[in-house]
Order: sequence, then structure tokens, then C-alpha cells
Amino acid sequence: MPYDPTNYLGSATHYRRGRPAYSPELESVLSQEADLDGNGRLLDVGCGPGILTLRLAHLFEQAVGLDPDADMLAEGRRAAEENSIRNIRWVQGLAEELPAVAPGPFRMVTFGQSFQWTDERAVAEAVYDMLTPGGALALVVHTAAGRTRPTGPGLPAIPHEEITALVRKYLGSTRRAGQRVVPQRTHRFEDVLAQTRFGVPQQFFLPGIPDLIRDSESVLSGYLSLSSSAPHLFGDRLDDFAADVRALLANRSADGIFWDWPGDTEVLLARKPD
Ligand SMILES: C[S@@+](CC[C@H](N)C(=O)[O-])C[C@H]1O[C@@H](n2cnc3c(N)ncnc32)[C@H](O)[C@@H]1O
Repeated sequence: MPYDPTNYLGSATHYRRGRPAYSPELESVLSQEADLDGNGRLLDVGCGPGILTLRLAHLFEQAVGLDPDADMLAEGRRAAEENSIRNIRWVQGLAEELPAVAPGPFRMVTFGQSFQWTDERAVAEAVYDMLTPGGALALVVHTAAGRTRPTGPGLPAIPHEEITALVRKYLGSTRRAGQRVVPQRTHRFEDVLAQTRFGVPQQFFLPGIPDLIRDSESVLSGYLSLSSSAPHLFGDRLDDFAADVRALLANRSADGIFWDWPGDTEVLLARKPD
């Protein structure tokens, strides 16, 4: 699908506050399964505000965060500075412009909830050529379907169904992104990779955080960080939507604290032969 620069218009400042973290086991599993030893470079494609880039940079000599959205990159740069992480280079560009925008070689190339935005098969083939022998491609997402939901810490769960109903009330029932309606993805990433030189990837499920606690503003930011409910889509009704979400959340939790379980972290790992 052609890139639309308004996909995440207004979302960048909400992203870090609003998105739940991936599994705490991510670094150790990637290190072990991809034989990371501190050498080489990481390329994080569709890095957004650097969620994976910042978490994984210390496992490499250098990391590159690639994203077409300048506001997302600015948030990533700011977070890296705040955390005194100095080995990340930020590059504005599309996955489809690889390798030109971020030439290899790389030890690992990651996509955190971003592969679906790209011309998947062609991009995977380009990545294959950019990896060092033995290097790895890792596709990282939250997966709740089919995973065992933990019991939680006894706090109210985020009322996702009701908030989604509010989004529909304001934006209509077809899922939007940028200037378009987004078709539901019906294929699996593993089937795409199986058709490339990578072949069938390994699949890992790493336990999500079982007792993640979020406040109302974080929940609202989570929705505003999604392309399907990005701030620009609401136009001059954004404040009304925010007020409705806040009222709903206040009704569900007097102190505005919620339990969130985004699912386990699913990693598809594909290696280039050594
Ligand atoms: C859901 S965010 C993922 C951010 C981060 N990787 C994470 O794990 O949370 C998707 C990101 O993909 C970026 N993106 C969209 N189309 C892209 C493309 N064709 N090439 C590279 N990145 C793209 C968006 O700008 C956005 O920042």
C-alpha cells in the first residue's frame, strides 16, 4: 500500500505514553536465539518513536532507527537523549527505499508492529541482502488471541470495547488510516517470509507483562497513538472525543487506574544462513 504521511498525524507525542511495553524477556530471547554478542549493527524499520531501537541498542555497536514520519523520529531522538543512549542514528525514509536509505550490513533488522505497513515480500528480500551471514530478521508484535490471559492485579481492566464503540461513533465503522480505509489483513507474516529466501521463520511467544498498570491519560494516549484513531481523524471534535473517553474511564475506575494486558510478545525470527 502506498505510504500516506498522514497515517500517524498527531500521534507521535502520544505513542511512548500510550503504548504498552513488549515482554521483559525480549532482549534475552533475541540475544540467545540470534547469537548476539555486542558486535555489529541493528536496523529498526518503522521504528516510530524508537520503541525497539532504544530497548535493543545496547546489544549492538550501533543502531539505526528508520521511519518516514519526522515527528516519530523526533520523539525517538528525544527519548534516546533523555536516557543517555548515544549509539543510535535516526534516518527518515521508507522500508521500500532500502537499502539506499540505510545501507547494510546489519546483524539484525527488526520491525515492531510495522511490517504490515510495508511491501512485505519485497522488503523482506531487500533485508535479506542487507544482513550479515547468520544475521536475523525479527518481526515483533503483541498477540492476545489464543494466549492465556493472566488473572491480573485485581484492578479494573481497560474497557476497550466501549472505547472502540466511541471511536466508531466519531469516525464511523470502517477502520481508517490517513486518508484511506484500511483493508483487514488476512494473511500471516510467516507465510510471506516462507515465500522469500528466509524460508519459514521460528515463532516465539514471550510472556507479556502480567500486571501492567496504566492511568486514564495513558489509555487515551494509547488510542490517539493508533493510525485508526489518530488525532487528525477527529478534526474539530478531538476535544469532545477525549472528554467522552475520560468520562467513560472515570466511570469505570474512581482513581483512574487500570490493568492492561496487551497480550504476549510474538516474535518471528528468520535467519540468513551462516
Ligand atoms: C505501529 S508504529 C510501530 C512503532 C514501533 N516500531 C513499535 O514497535 O511500537 C508503525 C510505524 O511504521 C511506520 N511506517 C509506516 N509505513 C512505513 C513504511 N513504508 N516503511 C517504514 N516505516 C513505515 C510509521 O510511520 C510508524 O511509525
